[in-house]
Amino acid sequence: MIRLDDVTKTYHGVRSTVALRGIDLEIAEGEFLSIVGSSGCGKSTLLKIIGGLIAPTSGSRTISPHTKEGSFAFVFQDPILMRWRTARENVRLPLEIQGSVSQKEAGITSVFENLGLGGFENSYPSELSGGMQQRVGIARALISEPTTLLLDEPFASLDEITRERLNDELLQLWKSGATTVQNVVFVTHNIDEAVFLSDRVVILSGRPGEIQEVLTIDLPRERTAEIRYSEEFNSLRRKIRSMML
Ligand SMILES: Nc1ncnc2c1ncn2[C@@H]1O[C@H](COP(=O)(O)OP(=O)(O)O)[C@@H](O)[C@H]1O
Ligand SMILES: [Mg+2]
Repeated sequence: MIRLDDVTKTYHGVRSTVALRGIDLEIAEGEFLSIVGSSGCGKSTLLKIIGGLIAPTSGSRTISPHTKEGSFAFVFQDPILMRWRTARENVRLPLEIQGSVSQKEAGITSVFENLGLGGFENSYPSELSGGMQQRVGIARALISEPTTLLLDEPFASLDEITRERLNDELLQLWKSGATTVQNVVFVTHNIDEAVFLSDRVVILSGRPGEIQEVLTIDLPRERTAEIRYSEEFNSLRRKIRSMML
């Protein structure tokens, strides 16, 4: 469990920017939560605060003993792979930094399998499609065995078909129990993606970002491709869209 109480974030530069204001949010154990809102409304800031990457200006962040500090891993829109390292060497990098290659090297193979990257271990980033590069980015995040995975518009630069495929895979990964990931916090400005993936969707208002609504997605958990064309899906999508004017 991760809880934010009355969180505010102000960036101090030439001008001060109030990026977030009055954020109260509780993320339950095992939950898939998405954060949507227009560009510049504070989504990335909120994600970084949830993950403990930056501190709030005021207010507090509490995590339950279950959700250990250090068990958070981030995936960003650009996977920023090192072009002179193979896929496997990129995924191994966090282990090299932690000095835990010998204990965890074996885990790389299973992470590659889980992400459909089997056979691409020795490929260089330039030899991989955008979707495959992002899979490597996710693999690199998973290798440190996080319980909470935080993703910031990870599929925004991919074509729609690849994005849908990665959405399916991410859900499989989260549900299958094949990884350590329990919670997923997912930032996107794509409404369909948020509805398809989530248990709940947080809708932020324009700057300063405040929580406008937290919508429960009560679609069945077996999220098949057909669900995207259902009446319920459409009405949830319409509801979120109307709040993002
Ligand atoms: N490091 C920073 N320094 C100053 N201002 C920032 C910084 N990061 C973000 N901001 C500002 O805070 C606001 C929210 O940014 P951000 O959280 O990145 O929004 P989003 O991810 O929704 O696009 C924006 O106005 C942005 O310009
Ligand atoms: Mg952002």
